[in-house]
Amino acid sequence: MRNCVLVTGGLGFIGINYLLLMSKVYKDDLFVCLDKMTYAANDPQILKWCENVKVIIGDICDTKLVDELFSRYHFDYVVNFAAESHVDNSLISPLIFVKTNVEGTAVLLNAAVKYKVKKFHQVSTDEVYGEGTDDYLFKESDKLNPSSPYSSSKAAADLLVLSYNRSFKLNVSISRSSNNYGLYQNKEKFIPNMIYNLLNKKKIHIYGDGNYKRDYLDVIDNVRAIDLIMRDNSEIKIFNVSSHQEILNIDLARKILKIFNYGDSMIEYVTDRKGHDKCYGIDTTLFENRYHLPFHQMRLDEMVKSYINFYARGDYYGK
Ligand SMILES: NC(=O)c1ccc[n+]([C@@H]2O[C@H](COP(=O)([O-])OP(=O)(O)OC[C@H]3O[C@@H](n4cnc5c(N)ncnc54)[C@H](O)[C@@H]3O)[C@@H](O)[C@H]2O)c1
Repeated sequence: MRNCVLVTGGLGFIGINYLLLMSKVYKDDLFVCLDKMTYAANDPQILKWCENVKVIIGDICDTKLVDELFSRYHFDYVVNFAAESHVDNSLISPLIFVKTNVEGTAVLLNAAVKYKVKKFHQVSTDEVYGEGTDDYLFKESDKLNPSSPYSSSKAAADLLVLSYNRSFKLNVSISRSSNNYGLYQNKEKFIPNMIYNLLNKKKIHIYGDGNYKRDYLDVIDNVRAIDLIMRDNSEIKIFNVSSHQEILNIDLARKILKIFNYGDSMIEYVTDRKGHDKCYGIDTTLFENRYHLPFHQMRLDEMVKSYINFYARGDYYGK
């Protein structure tokens, strides 16, 4: 085995895409997935053909377990995907977001310092910058101004990660990506939720008037970007990652409705989310200058097809 990588939250949407791809790219590496298996996790059976992936069901906040794992595996890299990730849930139960996203990150950072890992990579989000405007792209050096308990907990985790670099000389990196799309995302999230509802001939839900702009990134591009940043030795610690495919929620909904041959009558407008950010545009010059990763174009028809197969196979773990 060449490198041993701790992948926290590896059963979640982005984590499982990372494991499925990277376990093939780095056949000699061992990937240890630590996941609490919350409602958002996928079935670990999806990883059954990945011989170099070991799944451990457990909590990143469990100091004893985390210490045991670091002592047993001597991780070279840690990539922290584990998080409570749904903004709506954070408005109802913020404490669990602080617990997992902030305290859990601190537990991992302590162990990473104690066991001298090569690099700690934090998977972050464009939401830490807060609400954007149409004429400005946030840079990595911009002030963090999060709007929800979810994005605040992610911003707090980013600051913790940077403080461990400064105080303990831990080698760290952070990727702040825009919204990801692709397979294995829980159906609480916008795109899978619409596809699932339409497959079941139910209406789709749009917050407010639907005039919220989101910037979509193929999850495969994000996991490639994370891997490039994590294994690199750049002096730059933080990279924004996006493929600049911006679309209003209402326009995205209409494109998906069209694929199903439905019209606006299948839209139900629901009470808007508290503190709903209009948009988040990010400047990705730092990433593009260093990595030259070609990004996929969003193909909604293909995504709908793959989700239909995915649900038909019963691969989907979320209830
Ligand atoms: N999905 C996106 O569009 C997006 C965009 C930018 C950033 N991110 C960030 O990427 C990361 C992964 O997001 P996702 O969409 O895959 O999330 P997800 O909700 O699909 O998956 C999170 C995973 O973490 C696990 N988990 C939760 N609490 C845990 C704990 N205490 N200990 C161990 N495991 C725990 C869950 O069981 C789940 O498998 C998150 O940190 C999120 O903030 C996501």
